[in-house]
Amino acid sequence: MRELKILLIVIIFTGITYWGVEPLAHSVFHPHTPDADYTFKDVDGLNGVKGDASKGAEIATNCIGCHSIKSAGFEAPMSANDAAATYGVVPPDLSTAAKIYDHNYLAAFIKNPAVASKVAHKFDGVNKVHPMPGYDYLGNEAIADLIAYLGSIAPKDISAKAVFEDACSRCHSMKYAKISSTTQVDVVSKYMGSTPPDLSMMIRSRGDEYLHKFINDPQKLLHGTSMPRVGLTKESEEKVVEFMTQTGDSKKDERESLGPKVLMYLAILAVFAYLWKVKIWREVH
Ligand code: HEC
Ligand code: HEC
Repeated sequence: MRELKILLIVIIFTGITYWGVEPLAHSVFHPHTPDADYTFKDVDGLNGVKGDASKGAEIATNCIGCHSIKSAGFEAPMSANDAAATYGVVPPDLSTAAKIYDHNYLAAFIKNPAVASKVAHKFDGVNKVHPMPGYDYLGNEAIADLIAYLGSIAPKDISAKAVFEDACSRCHSMKYAKISSTTQVDVVSKYMGSTPPDLSMMIRSRGDEYLHKFINDPQKLLHGTSMPRVGLTKESEEKVVEFMTQTGDSKKDERESLGPKVLMYLAILAVFAYLWKVKIWREVH
């Protein structure tokens, strides 16, 4: 009888902690944030305009003063060091841009980089100007043509590592995958106002759910952060997180499949412990 009471008390307190305290603590420390929105409804994007790739090549001449487009034969106009010194950060190669970025986001970024990537609090256009000029004045048609052109020169398939390199590695290194940021750490830290952390182990400390929400809209989780929103398509973003998992947590599958086995072991152990107890008490009485 006494044992039953103890069990009851344990169950009650565990219940209170599990259903009462834990969700409360969770909602305080991790307030609910909406899931990532891969449609980028909030941006001023293509507005339904379809582009013509053959007209876009000429518009891309606006971009090659800063960016390389290697798949179209345009090398970087200056060395990485010079580019970093000029812009604060090395402009990424655009060969894969129309493959990895959502087209509405890409259009909005080309029109107004600071607003689309949600760093207008940092680059207000008065005290500090975003290093990439906005091309709003070209109009939706021309921007749609440019994106169609970038789509025509983009690869059909892309590896997880390549998405990471094109979308993140101008700021972030990933030492465990032997990737250094294309912009030197001290230079990019000065540009950003904070140091972009090495991402080797980030999958462990943050988990994939956080990363999906964060990459798509960092402001949602780190209000006021200088990290720009990276408008990847859902597919590309999954690849980035997959790459981070491969690098930082290659034993994830193995570890997760171990869980049920351990529980099974504990359950069997519990049965034996109980039988043993019954036997000992029988001898005592
Ligand atoms: C004066 C230099 C300059 C020119 C011209 C320029 N860019 Fe950029 N661009 C940059 C810099 C610098 C960055 C990186 C900014 C950052 O990460 O804060 C960038 C970033 C980008 C990105 C990455 C977007 C993201 O969300 O990560 C894309 C895509 C891009 N530019 C496209 C273009 C296109 C298309 C053109 C031509 C219409 C163009 N850029 C013209 C300097 C330039
Ligand atoms: C233009 C530079 C830049 C680019 C591009 C960039 N980041 Fe960042 N990132 C930063 C900076 C700066 C910080 C530190 C933010 C802070 O301390 O507020 C950061 C922080 C992070 C963090 C840590 C968040 C936390 O909770 O502490 C993660 C994860 C991350 N970035 C992932 C990515 C991924 C993945 C990509 C590519 C898809 C990417 N970043 C692209 C600049 C960048």
